[in-house]
Amino acid sequence: MNYIIKTESEIEKMKISGKLAAEVLEMIENYIKPDISTEEINNICHDYIVYKQKAIPACLGYHGFPKSICISVNDVVCHGIPKSQKILKEGDIVNIDVTVIKNNYHGDTSKMFFVGKVSILAKRLCQITRESLYKALNIVHPGIPLYKIGETIQNYVEKNNFSVVKEYCGHGIGYNFHEQPHILHYKNIKNNMIIQKGMIFTIEPMINAGHADVKCMKDGWTVKTKDRSLSAQYEHTILVTHNGCNILTWQKDEKIRSTLINKY
Ligand code: MF3
Ligand code: CO
Ligand code: CO
Repeated sequence: MNYIIKTESEIEKMKISGKLAAEVLEMIENYIKPDISTEEINNICHDYIVYKQKAIPACLGYHGFPKSICISVNDVVCHGIPKSQKILKEGDIVNIDVTVIKNNYHGDTSKMFFVGKVSILAKRLCQITRESLYKALNIVHPGIPLYKIGETIQNYVEKNNFSVVKEYCGHGIGYNFHEQPHILHYKNIKNNMIIQKGMIFTIEPMINAGHADVKCMKDGWTVKTKDRSLSAQYEHTILVTHNGCNILTWQKDEKIRSTLINKY
């Protein structure tokens, strides 16, 4: 039940949870406009997960997290707490991170949204972050060590003069929200577990426009860039297949295939 290689029945449940998490991000797209508060966005997602999907928002109460989803705006790197006083404005970039539990299994995904027209820098940061995730997904294949994922992300991000946050990583996921193994988004040859068919884990790079350093705020959750530069993140939950991976949280409008074949 909490093993690194999932059983067929676990995989079936994870496909459902992943799809539900992705559908929350698809549903919320039209609400991301100037003047909405992050609390209102949280409440819409909460009601959708609970009443429409008949699922559970995994973040609510997780280690005491007070809301159902994380919403991280501009220089907030991750774990932003939705608030009625936090009103979105034109030019903001917003990460929404959704994790749902259905049939006891978790699906975890996040993406960036633009509020109206955003700066060229903000757009480029989000694009490079998304592409770094896609490049990593493209190399996933049984037989390679996990650090190849981090290496791929770090090389691409640094070539584009952005920086990889080191404090947070992707994770195995299944019956538990966070399971083994850790998936680092930078190269560390100690992250050398060999990728195997049937593993399910997230890849979720957090990328800063300025320096990589981050700082946790006094609320104990909100993480910001130390230099207050912009930060972006995209996250998918994936299943390793015999020749690549399936993106369990793939969204209908995504410009990448849901099944990636890697003839490594
Ligand atoms: N969804 C986050 C992740 O990708 C975790 C959020 S934990 C919370 O792993 F408690 F902040 F919600
Ligand atoms: Co997440
Ligand atoms: Co995650």
